[in-house]
Amino acid sequence: IPVDEFDLVIFGGTGDLARRKILPGLFRRFISNQMPTGSRIIGAARSDMDTEGYRQMVREAIAEFGGEESKDLKCLERFVAQLHYIQVDAKGTAGWDELHALIRFEVINAFYFSVAPSLFGDLAERLHNYKIADDDSRVVVEKPFGRDLETAKELNAILAEHFGESQIYRIDHYLGKETVQNLMAVRFGNMLFEPLWNNHYVDHIQITVAETVGVGGRGTYYDKSGAMRDMVQNHLMQLLCLIAMESPSVFDADAVRDEKLKVIRALQPIDPHHIVRGQYDATKTEPSYREDAENPRSHTESFVALRCEIANWRWAGVPFYLRTGKKLKARSSEIIVVFKDIGHSIFPGDEKRHRNILSIQLQPNEGMQLQVTIKEPGPGGMRLIDVPLDMTFAEALGPDAEDSTDAYERLIMDVIRGNQTLFMRGDEVEAAWAWTDPLIEGWQARGDVPKLYEQGSSGPEDALMLMHREGRRWHEIK
Ligand code: BG6
Repeated sequence: IPVDEFDLVIFGGTGDLARRKILPGLFRRFISNQMPTGSRIIGAARSDMDTEGYRQMVREAIAEFGGEESKDLKCLERFVAQLHYIQVDAKGTAGWDELHALIRFEVINAFYFSVAPSLFGDLAERLHNYKIADDDSRVVVEKPFGRDLETAKELNAILAEHFGESQIYRIDHYLGKETVQNLMAVRFGNMLFEPLWNNHYVDHIQITVAETVGVGGRGTYYDKSGAMRDMVQNHLMQLLCLIAMESPSVFDADAVRDEKLKVIRALQPIDPHHIVRGQYDATKTEPSYREDAENPRSHTESFVALRCEIANWRWAGVPFYLRTGKKLKARSSEIIVVFKDIGHSIFPGDEKRHRNILSIQLQPNEGMQLQVTIKEPGPGGMRLIDVPLDMTFAEALGPDAEDSTDAYERLIMDVIRGNQTLFMRGDEVEAAWAWTDPLIEGWQARGDVPKLYEQGSSGPEDALMLMHREGRRWHEIK
C-alpha cells in the first residue's frame, strides 16, 4: 500500500548511513510501489555538490549496497529523478532559504537527522526559524541518543524546544526487524504462550546478539562507547522489553511504549558480579580490539554479558541473561525462553531433565522452534526424547514468508505514515540510560579491565561461568 506523498530531507545525505541503508532502503520501497511518484528525497549536507552530482552518488551507493534490485536500471533512473540536493551549513545561514523554497507544505514532510547529535540543536532551530518545519513535520533521529542520562535529557530538551513528542521518531533499527515484530504477534496473538509467560513456568530467558564483525573502521566512535552503550542500552533492552512487557490494551504507539517503559523501570540494579566485560584479542592474522580502536590502553568492552532481574509480579526471581559482542563465533541473534523442568516424571527410568525451550532466531535466519518431549519412536519402550518442533513458517507461507524488507525501510515508511509504535519515546531512552549509567560508572570507578577473549569464540570464559554457577548454560552461538 503506497504511503501518502512526501518530501523527505536527509541531513547527512552524503554520509555512510544514508548511502548504506537509508537510500537503498528507499529505493526498495520505490520499486515496491510504496513511494508515490511526486515524492521527493532531498539530500542536505555540507559537501559542495549539485543535484546531478548527488544523483550520481546515489546511483553508485545503490549499486554497491542495494543488492539484487539495484540491477533494475530503468527503475533506478526513475528513482534518482526524485532526488534533489541542497548544500547546507548546519551552523550557519547557507542553504536554508533554498531548502525553504523547495519544501512543499501540502505534502508530508520529514527531516532525517543522520548527523552527529551535537548538530541536532542547530538543525532543529534552523528548521524552526526558517519556517521549514511546521506542526505536522516529523524529525527522525538516529542512535546514539546521548551517551548517558544527562546527555539524553539534553537532546530531548533541545528537540522539545521546537517539536512535540508526537513529531519525534527516535530510531532503534532492531524494532524494524521482522522477527522482532513477530515477537509481539506470537505473544499476544496466541493463547498458547501467554499463560505460561511468567515466573511460575519460565526458568530463565537468554538474549544473545552475536556479531562476527570487529570495530575496524569505526574505532574512534566505538572506543568511546563500548558494547554497553552501543548495543545493550538500546537494542538488547528493546528486545528485553518486548519479551517481558505486559500486554498493551491496544497495539498503538503509546500503549506499547507505556508497557516497555514499565519493564525498564522495574529492572533491578545489577550486582557487579553479574556482569562480564570482554575485549577481543589478536590472532596471528587479525588485529586485536585495541589495534582496531587505535588505543593501546583501551579498557572499552567489545563484549558484555549480564544477568538481570525484573522486579514485578510476573518476573520476580526469573533471571534474564543478556550478551552481545563483536568478533564472535557467528552472526546470530536469538532469544531463548527456557521453561521449568516438569515437576515429576511418571516414566520409570527416565532421569533426564525435560523442559520446553522456545528459541526465537532474529537473524541471520528468522525462525522459531519449540523443544518438546516425545516418545522415542520404535519398540524400545517408553523412552523420552526432546525434539524441536519447527515453527519456521516458510513451508506454510511459501514465498510470502521471505520478506527481505530491511529494518530501515520499514521504519522510514512508518515515519511517513505517522506511526510511532516502533520508535523509542523520550522517557524510554532516559529510563534505559538511568539503568545503564551506574553500571558504566561502576566500571570506571573501579578501573575495571575487560577480559580478553579469543576471536571466533563465544566470548570470555567468565561469561560462561555467569550461567554455569547457577546450573544453567548459554545456548550455543551457531
Ligand atoms: C548498530 C551498532 O546499532 O547495530 C553496531 O552501532 C552494530 O555496532 C549494529 O554492529 C548491528 O546491527 P545489525 O542489524 O547488523 O544486527
